[in-house]
Amino acid sequence: MFDFFHKKNKITDIEWLGVDIHSHILPGIDDGSKEIGQSLGYIHEMQELGFGRLVCTPHIFQDLYPNTPETILPVLKTVQEEVKNQNLSIEINAAAEYMADSEFVVREGLLVFPGKHILIEMSYLMETPNIENIIFELQLQGYQVILAHPERYNFYFRHTERYEKLKSIGCSFQLNILSVLGYYGKGVKAMAEHLLNAKMYDFAGTDLHHDKHMKMLGDGVRSGKLHTILGQYPFRNLEVFSDSAFAKCI
Ligand SMILES: [Fe+2]
Repeated sequence: MFDFFHKKNKITDIEWLGVDIHSHILPGIDDGSKEIGQSLGYIHEMQELGFGRLVCTPHIFQDLYPNTPETILPVLKTVQEEVKNQNLSIEINAAAEYMADSEFVVREGLLVFPGKHILIEMSYLMETPNIENIIFELQLQGYQVILAHPERYNFYFRHTERYEKLKSIGCSFQLNILSVLGYYGKGVKAMAEHLLNAKMYDFAGTDLHHDKHMKMLGDGVRSGKLHTILGQYPFRNLEVFSDSAFAKCI
């Protein structure tokens, strides 16, 4: 039940998460932000919502978005310069979201977060047949694997033991915040709630691509709804991707 005093104590920012580890707001290099003005608009709003750092993660997917560090890092630099020019205090970094499909080659030099954390995704149509092997090979090369939005892989909905298997081999999970707000539908929302209840998530991210995402995220934060749903969950974004973790990378 809502009451006046309860409403007054609502948390209407997202400082409690602090770091966004998944977004597509570097302009012009994937299916996210199209140009720098759009990117800066999102960065302004993300700062206003309470994020102190955004780690942008452009798709690296050979068939559709054949990005490399060489296509991503110069764009990051341009955005960082603009952010500085506009006197924003938010920090902008880049890693990537790698499509871990059968074409994916485990190698040195992948674009990672501090601590050699790497964000991977799978197709929404089917599980990558050798996903466990890919994770193992990455781990052998010192990478710490984070699987993006496990709640969106509906081929797992009748096989939730696969989530347990992936966790048991040391794969971390990243929740898409918009999943709990219902953006991707009821099934995804229900699976996100299931995985939250099972304490299977390690990190959360926005997976921000465009205005519709920004609007729902902004509304969810400013209404207090997001904090009510997720605020007490022990996401590790701030602990693992702290300022000092990034300082060591420079
Ligand atoms: Fe993404």
